Amino acid sequence: MWKSRSEAAVNGRRIGPYETVWKGVANPATRPTAAHMLGFARASTRSQGPALNLEPTSRLAICPGSFDPLTLGHVDIIRRAARQFDRVVVAVLHNTGKAPLFSVPERLDFIRATFEDNPRVEADAFSGLLVDYARRRGAAAIVRGIRAVSDFEYEFQMALMNRRLAPEVETVFLTPAEEYSYVSSRLIKEITALSGDVSGLVPEPVARRLAEKFPAAPESALNG
Ligand code: PNS
Repeated sequence: MWKSRSEAAVNGRRIGPYETVWKGVANPATRPTAAHMLGFARASTRSQGPALNLEPTSRLAICPGSFDPLTLGHVDIIRRAARQFDRVVVAVLHNTGKAPLFSVPERLDFIRATFEDNPRVEADAFSGLLVDYARRRGAAAIVRGIRAVSDFEYEFQMALMNRRLAPEVETVFLTPAEEYSYVSSRLIKEITALSGDVSGLVPEPVARRLAEKFPAAPESALNG
């Protein structure tokens, strides 16, 4: 029979006062359907207290990375993530071990400027373990982009390690549009430093700052 539980745990998980648990029915035909469950929940809330919130909870994803600098490949992945999740935090790693081209505040500015018209996207910085940050933010998922098979091994290793550290945080892989599958921050920096053209591969604020940092960079980089 359906039993309402006000305390205790199911399979080690604590359940709320209006959750219910099905006990002792072996025949699948007599088990309740989703409609039964919903009906019971509604009936029980009428008699027992405040309305049960049946809305799905807001789901937050973290898009972590160095973003030194943000590329249109990153932007593509972040936009895709923002279509799948209610909120996306683009989390810039404070990496003391690397000498970055752009400071963390500059990198955050690039992200904010690029997504200023998208209220679902937030920029933030973090240090330490990614899973600790994800937990602090209450994230349901970590989103990573996979451009090619060569990305996979490293990403897969990281995803499994993060799962071991925080099993409740899922890693989700997204693939960018084909035209960005060869774009990386490393190549953007290298090409710009050698006066190559990266227009169409980085957001405009990034192109502008790259042109300032490397004055010999062609004007066309500003149209990116
Ligand atoms: O843009 P990147 O450099 O590929 O991003 C790598 C990043 C930031 C996702 C990864 O280095 C990371 O998560 N660093 C935080 C430290 C951490 O949690 N390390 C354990 C990973 S299993």
